[in-house]
Amino acid sequence: MKKLTEQNLINAFGSESHSHLRYLCFANQADAEEFPHIARLFRAIAFSESVQAHNHYQALRHLEGGFVSNSMAIFGPGDTKRNLLSAVMGKDYVITEMYPAYIEIAQLQGEREAGRSFTWAYLTEKMHRKLFWKAQESIHGKRSDLIIGPIRVCAICGFTRVGEIPNKCPVCKATSENFTTFV
Ligand code: FE2
Repeated sequence: MKKLTEQNLINAFGSESHSHLRYLCFANQADAEEFPHIARLFRAIAFSESVQAHNHYQALRHLEGGFVSNSMAIFGPGDTKRNLLSAVMGKDYVITEMYPAYIEIAQLQGEREAGRSFTWAYLTEKMHRKLFWKAQESIHGKRSDLIIGPIRVCAICGFTRVGEIPNKCPVCKATSENFTTFV
């Protein structure tokens, strides 16, 4: 594998692994503030981040002896209002800078598996950004919990949606039994 794409996979693995745990911490905080639906959203998206991290990790299986990864994330205790703003800002970064650049480089270097992993993550992150934005509008406007139905996450690519389970995942084409529901 080309070194630049390999390093980008390592960075993305660190970033998504940290997001996974960070959102679980944010979910606990939302529960403590009695925002159970925002907590559920954080847990669903945390699961999606772990799916993305696993896909990046899988694409690095040729590496022997381990690797050092950095989360590239600023993190510290805060209330749910602040946590949602930080979540939206994090999504802005991965959608506008990190993944578009990683996808482009993987394509230029002919690294198809890495390119697919980055593309799945990019498409998923755009959905996460919309959901976090809705949640922060609720909490900043009426200071109330998000009103939201069942959240479905594809365990193959991380695709996330609210509502019915699709027959096929629109991102990776996995069948409906691959979806995990957060209610
Ligand atoms: Fe999928």
